Amino acid sequence: MTVPQQRMSKLPNMSETTKHPSERILPEKPASDRPVKDKSGPLVELAHVEKHFGSLHVLKDINLQVDTGEVLVVVGPSGSGKSTMCRTINRLESIDSGVIRIEGEPLPQEGRDLARLRAEVGMVFQSFNLFANKTILENMTLAPIKVRHMPKKDAEDLAMDLLARVGVESQASKMPSQLSGGQQQRVAIARALAMQPKVMLFDEPTSALDPEMVNEVLDVMIQLAQEGMTMICVTHEMGFARQAADHIVFMADGRILEKDDPDDFFDHPQTQRAADFLSKILTH
Ligand SMILES: Nc1ncnc2c1ncn2[C@@H]1O[C@H](COP(=O)(O)OP(=O)(O)OP(=O)(O)O)[C@@H](O)[C@H]1O
Ligand SMILES: [Mg+2]
Repeated sequence: MTVPQQRMSKLPNMSETTKHPSERILPEKPASDRPVKDKSGPLVELAHVEKHFGSLHVLKDINLQVDTGEVLVVVGPSGSGKSTMCRTINRLESIDSGVIRIEGEPLPQEGRDLARLRAEVGMVFQSFNLFANKTILENMTLAPIKVRHMPKKDAEDLAMDLLARVGVESQASKMPSQLSGGQQQRVAIARALAMQPKVMLFDEPTSALDPEMVNEVLDVMIQLAQEGMTMICVTHEMGFARQAADHIVFMADGRILEKDDPDDFFDHPQTQRAADFLSKILTH
């Protein structure tokens, strides 16, 4: 997997250490188990997407393209539709009109194709969503065995490899409640990666964490970005946004008001809404 040149230059310290494949977070993807699709266009595309919750119009003419290897950070005030937009991308929420495509294919409505899509789109939420009654290792291997039909031994090897990459391999036999919030969130990221997703969605993955645990999760996300993972991240971590994002999207009232390079967005926001938002969030 190649790291986009632009990002290499943004992360000079990390990119200096060209990692041996066995030291990377991302598992190698078997080339044969994916249908061949149109890879010439964007990896993820939303076109004229509209969504209501009853009379509430929460997504208004959303148009967005995310290329392979791109890191997109989504920011905006509470209630602006950031989570809803993320959730439509792996069809946890349906849309009223418009279209969402992954590798040029509209999202499947149901059945096997939907299960496959969910496997291709990894999602990490604010709350860790680990199965409380399963060990960390079982949490990691459940979906690869059930959905990807991976042999148990292979799934466990992959799980241990990924847990080691995010620094929690010593916790494999524990229950989720025995781990700190930061450790649980790193397991949640590793668990999503075990499905070998094409794109990872993060919805405020650090906002439920104690402050001292935020960086350990952001470090894992930065490493993923550096390795070329396509990522859509809703976050208020502006340091992460500046460092890792290729583009920032600013949402307000269900609309995308701006899409900029990080430096342009932070230094020269185009709209008063974004300027007001930034002045609030950056003075915290
Ligand atoms: N399942 C739902 N049913 C009804 N209304 C909903 C539902 N989910 C979200 N909403 C409403 O849709 C709007 C957008 O919500 P959303 O959670 O996408 O915002 P957000 O930008 O993620 O906000 P936050 O920063 O607080 O997480 C809000 O007004 C919210 O109350
Ligand atoms: Mg939200």
